[in-house]
Order: sequence, then C-alpha cells, then structure tokens
Amino acid sequence: MSEIHEILEETAFLQCKVNGVSFEEEIHPSMSLLDLLREELKLTGTHMGCMTGHCGACTVSVDGRIIKSCITPAASVQRKKVITIEGLAGADDSLHPVQEAFCEASGFQCGYCAPGMVFSTVELLNEHPDPSDAQIRKALTGNLCRCTGYQSIVRSVRQAANQKTASGDHSE
Ligand code: FES
Ligand code: FES
Repeated sequence: MSEIHEILEETAFLQCKVNGVSFEEEIHPSMSLLDLLREELKLTGTHMGCMTGHCGACTVSVDGRIIKSCITPAASVQRKKVITIEGLAGADDSLHPVQEAFCEASGFQCGYCAPGMVFSTVELLNEHPDPSDAQIRKALTGNLCRCTGYQSIVRSVRQAANQKTASGDHSE
C-alpha cells in the first residue's frame, strides 16, 4: 500500500449535527459513533454496555431513527442529525415527556439502561401512540435491564403513552 493511501485511510472528514450543534472534524475511519459521542464530545449520557449491539445502552437517534451507536461507524452519520439523551430534553432543560414518565413511574433503578429505554419508547410512541403491552414489550426487546424486572419500565411506557394521548401530542 502506498504512503498516500495509508494517510488517506487514517482520517475521514465528518460533518454532522449532534443535538443541533455542528460537528466538523477529522476522525479515524474506524471510530464508532459511541466513541465519538462519549470520547470526543463528552456526551456520556449515552452508555457503554456490551459493545456488541445487544444491550441497547448506547441507543441514540440518527435522522429520527434509533440505532445502537456501539456498532455504528461514526463516519456513517455523515451529514445526518444525531440526538443523544442530552439533546432530548427541551431547550430550557425541561425533561422530555417520556423522561418525565420514567421518573414518575420509577422506570429505572441504577439508570444504566434508561437512555436506551427512553429512545426506544419515543420511537414506539411515534409509531404507535397507544401501544398494547405486547407492542411495548416488543419495542423494548433490544434494550436489556438488569435491575427492574421490566414491570416498572412497561408501566413507564404506558404512562408516557397516556400522557401523550391526553395532551393530543402525536409527534416526537
Ligand atoms: S453497548 Fe451498544 S448495544 Fe450494548
Ligand atoms: S435500571 Fe439498572 S440496568 Fe435498567
């Protein structure tokens, strides 16, 4: 391999928006989105768990769809909009309604799974504003919790759905 090829492979120029803020920098092509968020941008609300795409602790939104950031190359979010749990709250730092529902219904204990659970819930309620328990459980299959036994999480999702229905809000 020529020297120029080695140099080209060492960096990639990434342009994207994270929580509404522009990011424009050289990154290593093999960097994961999780590393970009936690190590470069210090957005540590996105948690590092299994690193194999199974636990959901690292879930974030990219252009409105949830993904596991540990198995997503940072370079793949070129010109896309990334939202982390820090960006889900309102501009005045008020909690997102789903975050509020999880707090009110005790949807977490240690909180390690919470960011991912919240993102999966936001996506579920965008698609199914009044989900059945089966739809809730199916939506959460990509998110593991070692503390709660899931009952309080399902209750939190139900509470978020009820609040959303009551407010007539059917958007994210
Ligand atoms: S850390 Fe990404 S799915 Fe577990
Ligand atoms: S609350 Fe601890 S892992 Fe879910």
